[in-house]
Amino acid sequence: MPSASPLIVTLDGPAGVGKSSIASRLAGELGIAFLDTGAMFRAAAYTLGEGAWDWTQGILQQKLGDFEFTLRGSGKDTELLLNGQPLPEDIRSEQVGQWASQLAVVPSVRAYMKMAQIFLGQTTPLVAEGRDMGSVVFPGAKFKFFLDAAPEERARRRFRQLEALGKPADLEAILSGINQRDDQDRNRSIAPMKPAEGAVVVDTTHISEGEVLAEILNTVRPPA
Ligand code: DC
Repeated sequence: MPSASPLIVTLDGPAGVGKSSIASRLAGELGIAFLDTGAMFRAAAYTLGEGAWDWTQGILQQKLGDFEFTLRGSGKDTELLLNGQPLPEDIRSEQVGQWASQLAVVPSVRAYMKMAQIFLGQTTPLVAEGRDMGSVVFPGAKFKFFLDAAPEERARRRFRQLEALGKPADLEAILSGINQRDDQDRNRSIAPMKPAEGAVVVDTTHISEGEVLAEILNTVRPPA
């Protein structure tokens, strides 16, 4: 008898909507790993450096051929490794986010990431979060969600996060970065960010993270 494929829950949505935090909590509730695919694009952008999006497809393919992403652990302790090493904190900067968004339009980069993500999902049950998890990478996922929130609210959340970390932040600059990334991620020709067919769309503008998590769990693990 063929063995059942691992459980996949997809969580897509725009920058700053809180996907990573919800994905890690959801993975903890389900006792499985979470895959932060934005971190994969960020790690590639950071490692290859500014302007890599202008390289030829052949060079990019060759460079990405040296990348191997693996996962370790589960729930909030999930670790994503690149060639056996944890990803550096620097990938979280706004600038690396911008580079990642630019690199993410390149066909050979998307093809590589899709292959690496499918490979991880073949062996590991996952909460997979990103932009195209439900629409392109895991169209057959058992549960699909698309989280959204007004750009102003996402900018405020990011501003509060940075403040809590004691890092200087400029609300207007954050909002303009979010709008620019939304525009790039929504309007690219390959795998544009959009709710997947069959995805439950959750508008999180006026609800707390705990309420979003409860709504998702209600679908994934309905009360008996
Ligand atoms: O989720 P994030 O902000 O860390 O993602 C960084 C960028 O990576 C995002 O602006 C677009 C790209 N990305 C993508 O194209 N597809 C994904 N599945 C995840 C991220």
